[in-house]
Amino acid sequence: MKLNELDTPSLLLQQDRMTRNIARMQAQLARKGVALRPHVKTGKSIDVVRRMLDAGASAITVSTLKEADYFAAHGVKDILYAVGIVPAKVAHVAELQRRGVRMTVILDSVEAARGLAQAAQQQGVCIPALIEIDCDNHRAGILPDDALLLDIAAVLHDAASTELHGVMTHSGASYDKPGEAAIRAVAQREREAVLQASQRLKAAGYPCPVVSVGSTPTALFGEDFSGITEVRAGVYVFFDLVMAGLGVCAVDDIALSVLTSVIGHQPRKQQILVDAGWMAMSRDHGTASHAVDQGYGLVCDLQGKPIGDLIIAEANQEHGVIMSRSGAALDLAAYPVGMRLRILPNHACATAAQHAQYQVVEGASEQVTATWQRFNGW
Ligand SMILES: Cc1ncc(COP(=O)(O)O)c(C=O)c1O
Repeated sequence: MKLNELDTPSLLLQQDRMTRNIARMQAQLARKGVALRPHVKTGKSIDVVRRMLDAGASAITVSTLKEADYFAAHGVKDILYAVGIVPAKVAHVAELQRRGVRMTVILDSVEAARGLAQAAQQQGVCIPALIEIDCDNHRAGILPDDALLLDIAAVLHDAASTELHGVMTHSGASYDKPGEAAIRAVAQREREAVLQASQRLKAAGYPCPVVSVGSTPTALFGEDFSGITEVRAGVYVFFDLVMAGLGVCAVDDIALSVLTSVIGHQPRKQQILVDAGWMAMSRDHGTASHAVDQGYGLVCDLQGKPIGDLIIAEANQEHGVIMSRSGAALDLAAYPVGMRLRILPNHACATAAQHAQYQVVEGASEQVTATWQRFNGW
């Protein structure tokens, strides 16, 4: 099948770029001597994740238990569920454990630790847990010097149905500021926060075999990973315009795009309308605060090359509105109705989540070489 024969909108995956991105992350962490535990929430497809595992990873991170089910069914045996655990989900985790998967969960309160211990006891299993540390006031976790750390550790350590397995953190601040120096500083803070927490646990006589950090920017630009046992990263597999805007990758590294058709023009407003609105691109406007605002996506030709400064400036449900970022006049006749274009996404995870499959292409070829299924939901 050729790109011109696919229905639009369709999600395209440029495999040569993905292969390069996987190799880059693996090489960086091999150089640093630390294990990679890829986050598979970006790809949600065994065809994508098998390539991450084949490159050298053996364990994964998931954001939903549906991901855990699916990847366990495909033979993955070591899974970190990296969203705070609640008692109602423990039966599901226990069921995965009974299927032979080493399932680890995370939590950041005494209440959640007690809830886990009680639910795991009812299930007759012992579940390992990491305590989540807040390294940048971004989202979840306790501060590394919080007295609660030892209270949570005591609950996990003392209960026969839980195992205190260590600490983890995720630096959401790594997406805030562009440039290698800024990201390096965030990576240092990320590392120091979990090391401080792990030292406190050890000083109090608790085990802390796992010290886990990670985001794509800090994984790629972090300098010192000593004391860290694993790094989690996910969006690097495809990259996106947010990562390019931060200087983490080049636009040419972005492996995901949405194939779309021109459906009309608004000459008075110098606009081209396409059939990729927010249902195809997602509502993510993560570059809005960047030096270069990419709207809802950067417009490329069928071979994947950006066309000047054309962006999806506005997005309705099924309509994307292409304009020049600078407001320059467009040669509308060069974009006839039915013409196909490709749109690079702001946030690969969010755009991929709008689609049920990847159409795989290589380089600038218009040939579709494979169709890979992906899934969504919980
Ligand atoms: C807990 C956790 N770890 C790791 C990651 C991976 O980060 P990235 O997508 O930047 O690779 C995420 C992403 O949101 C996350 O929530």
